[in-house]
Formats: sequence, structure tokens, C-alpha cells
Amino acid sequence: MRFLEVALAAAGLHLSIVFARDGEQKPLGVGPALGNKKHPNIVFILTDDQDLHMRSLDYLPLIKKHLIDRGTSYKRHFCTTALCCPSRVSLWTGKQAHNTNVTDVNPPYGGYPKFIAQGFNSDYLPVWLQEAGYNTYYTGKLFNAHTVENYHSPHVAGWTGSDFLLDPFTYMYLNASYQRNHEPPVSYEGQHTVDVLAEKAYGFLDDAVESDKPFFLGIAPVAPHSNVKSALFDGDIGDIGDVDDLAVFSPPIPAKRHEHLFKDVKVPRTPHFNPDSPSGANWVRELEKQTQENIDFNDHFYRQRLRALQSVDELVDGVFARLEANGLLDNTFVFYTTDNGYHIGQHRLQPGKELGFEEDINIPLIVRGPGVPAAEVSEVVTTHIDLAPTILQLVGAPSRADFDGEAIPLRKSELESATTSRHEHVTVEYWGFAITEGKLFGEAEHRLYLNNTYKALRIIGKSYSFYYSVWCNNEHELYDLKTDPYQLRNLLHPTEKAPETLLGIPFTKVTARLDSLLFVLKSCKGQTCTRPWQALHPTGDVQNLRDALTSQFDDFYVAEQKRVSYDRCELGYVIDAEGPQFGTDGLVYRHGARWDEWV
Ligand SMILES: *[C@@H]1O[C@H](CO)[C@@H](O)[C@H](O)[C@H]1NC(C)=O
Ligand SMILES: *[C@@H]1O[C@H](CO)[C@@H](O)[C@H](O)[C@H]1NC(C)=O
Ligand SMILES: *[C@@H]1O[C@H](CO)[C@@H](O)[C@H](O)[C@H]1NC(C)=O
Repeated sequence: MRFLEVALAAAGLHLSIVFARDGEQKPLGVGPALGNKKHPNIVFILTDDQDLHMRSLDYLPLIKKHLIDRGTSYKRHFCTTALCCPSRVSLWTGKQAHNTNVTDVNPPYGGYPKFIAQGFNSDYLPVWLQEAGYNTYYTGKLFNAHTVENYHSPHVAGWTGSDFLLDPFTYMYLNASYQRNHEPPVSYEGQHTVDVLAEKAYGFLDDAVESDKPFFLGIAPVAPHSNVKSALFDGDIGDIGDVDDLAVFSPPIPAKRHEHLFKDVKVPRTPHFNPDSPSGANWVRELEKQTQENIDFNDHFYRQRLRALQSVDELVDGVFARLEANGLLDNTFVFYTTDNGYHIGQHRLQPGKELGFEEDINIPLIVRGPGVPAAEVSEVVTTHIDLAPTILQLVGAPSRADFDGEAIPLRKSELESATTSRHEHVTVEYWGFAITEGKLFGEAEHRLYLNNTYKALRIIGKSYSFYYSVWCNNEHELYDLKTDPYQLRNLLHPTEKAPETLLGIPFTKVTARLDSLLFVLKSCKGQTCTRPWQALHPTGDVQNLRDALTSQFDDFYVAEQKRVSYDRCELGYVIDAEGPQFGTDGLVYRHGARWDEWV
């Protein structure tokens, strides 16, 4: 059945393979090579915890040379959950975390076992790519809680060749364990993990070139993630008392040849770096100002990140050298991104991620390939859940109705039309706790901050730029990034004096619209995630926030809608903790008709 569908989808190509149940390909006969212009190759480089906002890209000259100067940078690219595993599962499935329900790095709410339990091992990007006739390769970190003990139960599906980093050695820069195809794990004690990975990536590239099929190659180095010495974790995350029992975090470790670099470099001293007044909401607002000793350590941490990234810079150079030597550059798309962003010192935060601030969610995405404008910076809003749709479109495979995102415009004409037609929002969500990764300074500091569960909306239009969030303790945040780009004034904090008007209308009328939009997005599925206003206004007369601000809708938004709220804080996506739900409790603008009647 699947084979027939694929054959039809491949329209006119003699796709002569069938797919065995275990996902391995069995050649039936030799058809014409698929490695032609219609079927470009894809190289996807995915770093770990790389920031955009602390300017890490400024220190990577080879990435600049091959990617930034020759491709398009998407400066408004966002992850939708600022944590490795949920973000990666969303990336490889094209679904928001509330639709994957892989919301954490460890069971019961996340990690590799949850990915398996949710049925994604036979239903995610590499599997679809193989169905479309591609060879698929991957090396590096795939997910968390993918371990030396569970890697074979079952094996990861979908890859023609794979060599995965495994826990508990994933983040040990000098003692990584990699696990190739169906072989047992191998320890690389004493070798630098990114250098080990580079050789594996080059090897897969050679394999890919030898085959006559087009290929997808995923390269996922662990830099610049913290170095972590951890135990194998198989308990209930809710029972953790002392996180140090679970994991010991330290700055990333560069290769010897990069240790001496950047001696004078410091975290950029932006206005929100260790500010005099607290900012944000919830536990963030309680943080104390950091001491000089703390700042000095964090600057060292920052330099170690930049140094560790140098190996990635060289890896990118090596990949391009090989693509060029094989004459593949004009038929290969290279994507460069990371799983989530990172903060150090902004809002007084210790090194870490897991929040909704720009540092954590607005991340690098650079694409180079045939037809992609060179040295271009695009401002269209794109997210990680758009990447799977983008890649399926590139390989000529049909899109999937259950994608929560939509393909990213790559060519000049697409980029131009997207500036007026593409959606302007990002759905941001998080469940669980935040972990700090630096040293602990000061009495009041914790390694673990509970109740870090929130839903948020980032929206960027021509005349507005907002971040709106609701936390599980029902605290709210609103930043007007046009006037407050560093998110220092939470306009919804009780001690902050909210402005009378915003965008020329009363403040509360704007926040009512933002809340309703988030109300739809927090449980959206499929097209509703990209066209949420259509769920509220099925007649299609509202396409964006600007349209929704029309006074005719004041009552509908201000008086009639239910509000985003939580009943309690949970560590995962437990619906009955998450207040009213659109579809059962939310109204649509259609003479008062309810959503369920309209559907
Ligand atoms: C390195 O990893 C191996 C397992 O892969 C382990 O047996 C060994 O103890 C580790 N060495 C250090 C120094 O942690
Ligand atoms: C977290 O939230 C729970 C339930 O919503 C509450 O009982 C608890 O006090 C909160 N804990 C902290 C540390 O805020
Ligand atoms: C998500 O997974 C958790 C853990 O298995 C489960 O308790 C929860 O009900 C699931 N949420 C949804 C919406 O299915």
C-alpha cells in the first residue's frame, strides 16, 4: 500500500524499492538515479543550545563564509519549546509539543522512550524521506534518554546509516559514546566529541555519494551544550530532590587547538544583562543581582561555548569541501540551526534555556542551496515545526494534513510574497522545570526551578512585536518589543503601570485579542496552528492581529471569550490542569455560534 502511494507520489519516476516492515530498504531492480535536479540532497546541521542573541555566529568565520554569505539567514526563526528533546521531536515530526506530547527530556513526559511510546519511530521525517526514495543518514545526538541501555529496544528507525550519541555520555565532550547502525555502543574516551562526529559525518557523506539515490544527512554535534556528567536516569522526574545527583553541569570543553581563543571576550553587556531591577515573572523575578565573581565565571562559560563551537565551524568547512569536491553544491540544500537558544546573565539568569525570552526561542536558521538568495536576511516568521514541511516540499513528497507548520519560503519570489501572506505568530509552550547549568552562587539560588510551565505567543507584524505569556500560576507577561526590545518591562506585572493605550486603542482591548489568539493556539492542530484567526472568524475576514483589532469585535474579545488559565502546575501536558479549551469552551465570531456547532 505504502509502496503504491510512494510510486504515485513520485510521479513518473521509476521508484523501484519496497519497504520492509522494519524500515530497511530492499532493492527490487535498478531504476534511473533519483539524484537529479528534482530531488536535491539535503544536509541538516543541528547544533545544541546555540544562541543567536549572544552573537555566537559572529565568532564562526567558516559558517559565515559558506552559509551566511552564500545563503539566507532567517532572523525571525523560533523554536516552539526551548528544550532539547521536545524541540527536536517537534522538528522531526512537524508538530507542536502539545500534539507530540513529548514535552520533556526524560520519561514519563519525554525522552526517547516517550518518542517511541507515541508511535513516532515509524512516523517522522526520515521515514517519510525513505518512502520518497531518499537515503537517510544521521550522526550525533538525536534525543535525550536515548541510552546505552535502551538504544536497541527498539532501534531508531528511518535511517539508512546512523551513528548516535548515547546517554549518559551524550554531553561528555571527552568521553562520548556513539552507537552505529545496529552495533553496540563504542566509547571515545579522550577524543573530542565534535571531531569524532566530523569523521562520522564525512564517512556518511562518502556513503551517500556512492549511492545513486538522493540523500538526507543529519549532523548533530553536541556543542555548545554544557558538559554534563550524568547518571542513567530511570525514575520519576517528579521525585528528584537534588539535581546534582542526576547531573553535574560544567562549561563546554573545547578541542585543545581552540582553548586559547577569545581571552578577552565577554557576554554582550546589553541592557538586560544583570539588570539593576528584576524583570520577568514567577521565579525569574525573584532572582538576585549577580556578583562580580558570578559574572566572571559566566563570561568564562560563554568563552568556552564559543571555543567549543570552533570545531563545528571546521566541521561545516569540511562538509562544504566534500560537497564541492563531489560536484554536489548546486543540487544540495544545507540547513544550519540549533534545537533551542540559550541565556547567560540576561534578566539575572544563570546559564540555561527553558524560558520564553528571545535568547531562548529566537535561534539561528541559515539555508544555502540552489535558488536560495545569497547573503540575504529574511524577516519572515518561521519556526522549527516548519522544517519538516519545508524538507518534504523540497524532496517533492506530499505534505501531511497533520503538520502544525508550513513550508519555509526559500526562493527569492517565495520570500517576497511571504512578507505579506505568511502568518505572524509563533506558539511557544513549556512544561516542567528549569535547570540552571552554571555554578551556584548565593544562598537563594537553586539548580532546579519548579512550576516553569507556561504558554506563550510571539507575534511580529509590521507595526507591532509582542511576547505574551500565561504561566501555570496564572501570572501573565506582556512585552512590547518595539519599545522594549530587551523585555525588561512586563506590562502585565502588578507592580508595573500598564499604558492606557497600545496600538492606538485601550490596552486591555489588545491584551484580550492576544489572549484569545493564545487560547486557540495552545491546543491547535494542523492548519489551525498556522491560520488561528480563521478558527475565531470562520468567514475569513480576520487574517492577523491588526484585522482583529477592529472595534466591531470588541465585545467578542473583551466580554465573551474564555481566558487562558491553569488550574494547577503540572510537569507535563495534563489537560485537566490547563483550564478551558478552545473547541469545547471557546467561541467563534459567527453570530454567537459555538465552535462545535460550526464544525
Ligand atoms: C568513559 O566512558 C566509559 C563508558 O563508555 C566508562 O566506562 C568510563 O568510566 C568513562 N571514563 C570516564 C573518565 O568517565
Ligand atoms: C508549584 O505549583 C504547585 C501547584 O500548582 C504549588 O502547590 C506549589 O506551591 C508551587 N511550587 C513552587 C515552588 O512555586
Ligand atoms: C501526555 O503524556 C502524559 C504522560 O504519559 C499523560 O499523563 C498525559 O495525559 C498525556 N497528555 C495528553 C494530552 O495526551
